[in-house]
Amino acid sequence: MSILIIKNADKFYGKNHVVKSLNLEVDDSEFLTILGPSGCGKTTTLRMIAGFETPDKGSIILKGEDITYLPPYKRHVNTVFQNYALFPNMNVSENIAFGLQQQKKDKATVDKKVTEMLAMVRMSNFAKRKPAELSGGQQQRVAIARAVANNPAILLLDEPLGALDLKLRKQMQFELKSLQQQLNYTFIYVTHDQEEALTMSDRIAVMNEGVIDQLGTPEEIYNSPSTEFVAGFIGDINKLSGKVTAQNELVCNGQNIIANTKNIPNGKEAKIFLRPENIFITQSNNGIPGKILQTVFAGTHTKLEIQLSDGNIVHINEPVNSERRYTHGDSIHLEVKQHTAIIFE
Ligand SMILES: Nc1ncnc2c1ncn2[C@@H]1O[C@H](COP(=O)(O)OP(=O)(O)O)[C@@H](O)[C@H]1O
Ligand SMILES: [Mg+2]
Repeated sequence: MSILIIKNADKFYGKNHVVKSLNLEVDDSEFLTILGPSGCGKTTTLRMIAGFETPDKGSIILKGEDITYLPPYKRHVNTVFQNYALFPNMNVSENIAFGLQQQKKDKATVDKKVTEMLAMVRMSNFAKRKPAELSGGQQQRVAIARAVANNPAILLLDEPLGALDLKLRKQMQFELKSLQQQLNYTFIYVTHDQEEALTMSDRIAVMNEGVIDQLGTPEEIYNSPSTEFVAGFIGDINKLSGKVTAQNELVCNGQNIIANTKNIPNGKEAKIFLRPENIFITQSNNGIPGKILQTVFAGTHTKLEIQLSDGNIVHINEPVNSERRYTHGDSIHLEVKQHTAIIFE
């Protein structure tokens, strides 16, 4: 069941068409991520859901009710921002209680809820501290507790972990995901970090210049990107070229590749996109010929940069425990795992 529906939403800032006929249906209790590069319209979309912006056209439906022109405080959604936006003069408990007090809830109800929220985000021992006395991760936990406290239908999160260092961010990703599952809440999460989106989401909407290019599970987005933009934005990818020779067959640097050629006719040039994990160095001479340009040690694997005979460059990862060692100038042959290449016209 859809908890939120965005129908044909358009947003202009002056002449700048920032969100373009956007359609999106969010399922109840799902973790949906809007993923895209900086400036593609993610925050604007979230702000239209929250009510801080109004679409120039189209509508926003929450639980069957048209909320397009409803002010933010009348919408059952809450937002967590990257900069936390905690009240600096209030302690942790007071921050969490604030929204409930605004709703004129009685003291016993507020106290009970605050205690519950503090436990939920594991901040019970920090109840009396001011935001300035907390780490970034702790402040973010308080911001989440405050947003969840008045039980919104949807929690909106705009790059909430963006200000944290890498290690803490990874830890908070797990915390947020398990919190969402535990609460059985709908999260709409905005990020430009593709790895974050892949690890946390039930579904990802990949946004590009105001348009959702693809909506799907992380596996669908990674394995079957529907546009070149999605293929290039999510994960590492190699871009090769070749020619379609038959249905689901291509030739690339003199070698046959088996992959879904969609509706591309025989004889046509095609772009062949390949994930590094689907290309191997083969000891046979029946592969795509290439030369090692560079080897870079990366801990668990060695990154190899290889130039093909047609000039295209390919990056692959060789396990460090491999017995083979390659150096600059070595001639090698590459094998492509069947049915893994992503083909575009
Ligand atoms: N209040 C505003 N006034 C004018 N232009 C804006 C405003 N907010 C955002 N924009 C522009 O709209 C585009 C999308 O912005 P935004 O939704 O913030 O992108 P994202 O969150 O994906 O980085 C950008 O080009 C940005 O400069
Ligand atoms: Mg933004």
